[in-house]
Amino acid sequence: MSHLAVNRDLCAQDNICVEECPMGLITADSEGYPQPIEGAAHMCTLCGHCMASCPHQALSVGGVAPESLTQVHKDLAVNTDQAVQFLASRRSVRAYKKAPLEQELIEQVLNVTRWSPTGLNRQPVQWLVYNGRDRVSRLAGITADFLRGNEFFSGLAQAWDAGQDRILRGAPAVVIAHAPAENNIYSVDCVSAMTYLDLAAKAHGLGACWAGLLMMAAGGFPAMQAELNLPQGNAVFAAMMLGRPKFAYHAIPQRKPLAVEWR
Ligand SMILES: Cc1cc2nc3c(=O)[nH]c(=O)nc-3n(C[C@H](O)[C@H](O)[C@H](O)COP(=O)(O)O)c2cc1C
Ligand code: SF4
Repeated sequence: MSHLAVNRDLCAQDNICVEECPMGLITADSEGYPQPIEGAAHMCTLCGHCMASCPHQALSVGGVAPESLTQVHKDLAVNTDQAVQFLASRRSVRAYKKAPLEQELIEQVLNVTRWSPTGLNRQPVQWLVYNGRDRVSRLAGITADFLRGNEFFSGLAQAWDAGQDRILRGAPAVVIAHAPAENNIYSVDCVSAMTYLDLAAKAHGLGACWAGLLMMAAGGFPAMQAELNLPQGNAVFAAMMLGRPKFAYHAIPQRKPLAVEWR
């Protein structure tokens, strides 16, 4: 059986899927119905783009029924001003409420990252969540040890020793994205997924901030690597603090003018 099935009763022979398949795996047969090219099943990334673009729910790929897909609801669309303000008003949150986060809420935020783009739709991102202040403190403490000998950041270790968490900012949770280190693109996929998480957190009333210091420690500090205990061959490509913002933000700060050269 072909990996691509066409329901001829529903298909309008508009060939949108032929134009949309990023891999060029669909062609029109002599009657104008879509059909896979020779060897398509081996090259198909199961990205679902053909199914997403079909207005008639006439296509099925990889055994996925079109009716099983979540439909895009027009009444849930945000207008341009809303979308731009949402994006521009995202803040790196460094002051969190002390209350712990519900695992279910973190799961809802993480779930959105499943739709971030990934090279060849490989979806390689794996998540590690430290939920609870005690667990996050363990990571902050190890990061402080890593920073102790660092000329630029040793002050943060001293602050940690004095009871101030300027490393993970007292966040109730930390989320880490890791993937096999062998493929350069996976690092981009992790960063892209984490950017989705940053925005999804805001959409759920949470705040987040990149945990760059932890990422540095994860890159080569044995105590951190022992703590994280990632699968063999995996590396940390992104990490973020997560929590409920203690304060609201009222303005959008200035940024450099757009640096663009038009050609
Ligand atoms: C790092 C990276 C590189 C990509 N390069 C290409 C590309 O060269 N050509 C292309 O058509 N799509 C490219 N994509 C898009 C992926 O194919 C796409 O994200 C994936 O098929 C999932 O589809 P979606 O983004 O529509 O959900 C790239 C995505 C990422 C994250
Ligand atoms: S799932 Fe993606 S790659 Fe496969 S046939 Fe459809 S559009 Fe092409």
